[in-house]
Amino acid sequence: MHPSLFLAALCLGITTAAPQPDQSLDAHWSRWKAAHGKLYDEDEEGERRSVWERNMKMIELHNQEYSQGKHSFMMAMNAFGDLTSEEFKQVLNDLKIQKHEEGNVFQAPLFAEIPSSVDWREKGYVTPVKDQGQCQSCWAFSATGALEGQMFRKTGKLVSLSEQNLVDCSRSQGNEGCRGGLMDYAFQYVKDNGGLDSEESYPYLARNESCKYRPEKSAANVTTFWHVLNKEDGLMTTVATVGPVSAAVDSSLDSFQFYKKALNFTFPGIYYDPNCSSESLNHGVLVVGYGFEGAESDNKKYWIVKNSWGTNWGTQGYMLLAKDRDNHCGIATMASFPVV
Ligand SMILES: *[C@@H]1O[C@H](CO)[C@@H](O)[C@H](O)[C@H]1NC(C)=O
Ligand SMILES: *[C@@H]1O[C@H](CO)[C@@H](O)[C@H](O)[C@H]1NC(C)=O
Ligand SMILES: *[C@@H]1O[C@H](CO)[C@@H](O)[C@H](O)[C@H]1NC(C)=O
Ligand SMILES: *[C@@H]1O[C@H](CO)[C@@H](O)[C@H](O)[C@H]1NC(C)=O
Repeated sequence: MHPSLFLAALCLGITTAAPQPDQSLDAHWSRWKAAHGKLYDEDEEGERRSVWERNMKMIELHNQEYSQGKHSFMMAMNAFGDLTSEEFKQVLNDLKIQKHEEGNVFQAPLFAEIPSSVDWREKGYVTPVKDQGQCQSCWAFSATGALEGQMFRKTGKLVSLSEQNLVDCSRSQGNEGCRGGLMDYAFQYVKDNGGLDSEESYPYLARNESCKYRPEKSAANVTTFWHVLNKEDGLMTTVATVGPVSAAVDSSLDSFQFYKKALNFTFPGIYYDPNCSSESLNHGVLVVGYGFEGAESDNKKYWIVKNSWGTNWGTQGYMLLAKDRDNHCGIATMASFPVV
């Protein structure tokens, strides 16, 4: 964790003195701290504990409401449990700008067969879920995800690509390292640079470093990149015919922070929060497929979304996000992918 970001996080939101902790949660709190490697100094501990308790209660309430059929997904405590939603927004929601600049628009082939479900993970296009840590580099993970898929499509080899290479080296394209960026700028960098190193040769550090690109370790190329038309139909056609696609979403709500797929198959755990914005996008993710639960007409369609918050978040790091419900969370607003 970078100290300056951590400080920025601590300076936000918490101004009142911490209330007395609920002692019945002592053991749970200790287990949670141990599980997530949290160490606080004495001053900080009380404040973090009270944020964590508030989040615990909110999650409990949500899950009670879930059992009454009021929500389609459950929530669970995770590594973000000691962050208020304000801090969470600051630390992890990290797209630089919120709209698509001019770009080439992709038209899916006419008459292409579009299946009603697709999961590129089953076809070998998708690397394991990664963890951006406390660095605002979601844009880099979204971009490598799309590029890993397209390289696999071309070569038949799945090679994990370096986010750190993008964080360190794509400033002149407009990215700002651990301060945020855009997937398009990342694709532009790989194109300008003539390559991108593999994850193995240029591992992730979750902090700004100087550029250490080595052409001999490059594992990908980009010739151009395309924008997907601003509709879920277009996104579906593109995902079906191209592979995993980079997209941006509004991830700023508590429900997103603590999202967890439901275990109950009657209610499969598709994320839907009426307060999720389709315009105010702040987080880059990867759409690796789509599908539906129950009958196709049941309004239980979803996008399969790969996140970069580790496997502890969501369902092994993935989210099922409501599909064909008015561009929920803006999933189709800013989608793009590279051509290799
Ligand atoms: C799933 O949850 C619903 C609503 O809470 C409940 O009515 C149903 O019995 C549950 N089904 C299973 C298999 O647990
Ligand atoms: C990384 O670099 C950006 C852009 O130069 C800067 O704004 C940010 O503070 C740096 N972040 C860290 C964690 O050093
Ligand atoms: C990228 O393109 C260059 C120039 O055409 C080529 O030499 C290199 O092998 C390519 N790299 C990969 C990983 O395909
Ligand atoms: C949506 O946001 C409003 C205002 O912040 C809040 O009162 C309401 O409870 C939220 N609705 C849901 C379903 O979370």
